[in-house]
Amino acid sequence: MNVTVVGDAPAAVEADAVVVGVHANDRVLRDAAAAVDRAAHGALREVLQAERFSAKVGHVTHLHTNGRLPARRLVAVGLGKRADVTAETVRRAAAAGLRRARDLGARTVALAALGEGMSARQRAQAAVEGAILGTYTFERYKRERSDKQVEALRVLEPDGRRRREATDGARRGDIFGRATWFARDLVNGPANEVHPTHLARVAATVAKEAGLELRVLDRADCQKLGMGAFLGVAAGSAQPPRFLHLTYAPGGRRRKRVAVVGKGITFDSGGLDLKTADSMLRMKDDMSGAAAVLAVMRALPSLKPPVEVHGLIAATENMPSGAALRPGDVLRAMNGTTIEVGNTDAEGRLTLADAIAYAVSRVEADEIVDLATLTGACVVALGPLCAGLFASDARLAERLLAAGEAAGERIWQLPLIDEYREHLRSDVADVNNVGPRGGGAITAALFLREFAGDRPWAHLDIAGPAFVEKDTPLAPKGATGCAVRTILTYLTDGAGGR
Ligand code: BES
Ligand code: MN
Ligand code: ZN
Repeated sequence: MNVTVVGDAPAAVEADAVVVGVHANDRVLRDAAAAVDRAAHGALREVLQAERFSAKVGHVTHLHTNGRLPARRLVAVGLGKRADVTAETVRRAAAAGLRRARDLGARTVALAALGEGMSARQRAQAAVEGAILGTYTFERYKRERSDKQVEALRVLEPDGRRRREATDGARRGDIFGRATWFARDLVNGPANEVHPTHLARVAATVAKEAGLELRVLDRADCQKLGMGAFLGVAAGSAQPPRFLHLTYAPGGRRRKRVAVVGKGITFDSGGLDLKTADSMLRMKDDMSGAAAVLAVMRALPSLKPPVEVHGLIAATENMPSGAALRPGDVLRAMNGTTIEVGNTDAEGRLTLADAIAYAVSRVEADEIVDLATLTGACVVALGPLCAGLFASDARLAERLLAAGEAAGERIWQLPLIDEYREHLRSDVADVNNVGPRGGGAITAALFLREFAGDRPWAHLDIAGPAFVEKDTPLAPKGATGCAVRTILTYLTDGAGGR
């Protein structure tokens, strides 16, 4: 989808479809809706009345203009009450409007400015994000693919003084939206294709295209570094593991070094503590954190934040076999901590232990953020639409929460309860990798904290929102690309300060 910002009026713009917003509590049509209605001799008002259009957020209707407007179709999207409009309203409305226009066969779509209370930059970003996120499809393996696709999106900003701002916002929305698509594609890809070697190849392409530095460590390299926890998980798989380290270095004075670590289990069978068929079905999504890291790293050079960012991924499958990790095994992580394997299905924290330890001792990061589909317990706690946040540093937590809020991704902070640390006590090693059922998301986070040393560290448990079982306003069912926009917002707006 090619995105541009233009100054045309909604009633004069030429396109296969023009999308305008309608507010729920307006007694008469206003703004772009009023203008196109006037030009169409009241045809929009007639349709809205006949259908008793409620203008709830994301509700949508349309009419064919039959020559009354230069645009051939007119799509009206609900924005809810005028006073309640937020960036998320604009995203959802744009998503619904673009989907309708696409389904009607439109290839070029004009989108009237939505969200009057916001800055031109903010609303253009939200509109473009919504348009891109809402029209995602994954048809790679289908014989029959839809040929209905929006090729050109024209965001209307009639105010010449604000067009520059709107263009900046649209560009950012375009980058954020595409990055999210990139992550979705990787997660939706099946595990027989998306294995650790594949992730390494993707990282190589990303590094080349985006001009990033890349280090790929194989099993022997990881052994030399002492990554016994990561390699323990990898032991059962016929797929060789890969540790990936991408670096984005800003031009000019470096302000701060952030490590973003993504859980990269390309398939989680549970290992010898095998999952049930039902709970295994989704487990190609267990590299959603890694996908988000790759997507973020790929986008950074076009956003140019003034922070140094290290993307780290310990990629492996978690499989049962004669060579697999056994319950009761003891592993030694890179920082020297010994771990008793209480359950081979708590593999994510083992791989992250070494990745976080690497961020501490090799990267010497000032700040570490990990993204992981870590626990079913977090899904029980927060459901499919909300990520859990744990942090050892209040300011880091605050900045991530603010970034999530701005990006429209739900994040809820959960507590690191020190007393639960004893749930991870082991009779034979420094720690066990599992605790009791209750508070499972918390004990998992406490386990990770052991490896972050004294560095400010935060952990996003995205087990719920990484993958949805039914369509949502901004994502069809399947991979969501969760956390990509939050982390990009954080790195471009929040991470600089300290
Ligand atoms: N990848 C899973 C967590 C998960 C569960 C993600 C459901 C998405 C949806 C993780 O590796 C896992 O298996 N966790 C176990 C931990 C337990 C053995 C302590 C879990 O949550 O059941
Ligand atoms: Mn598991
Ligand atoms: Zn897992």
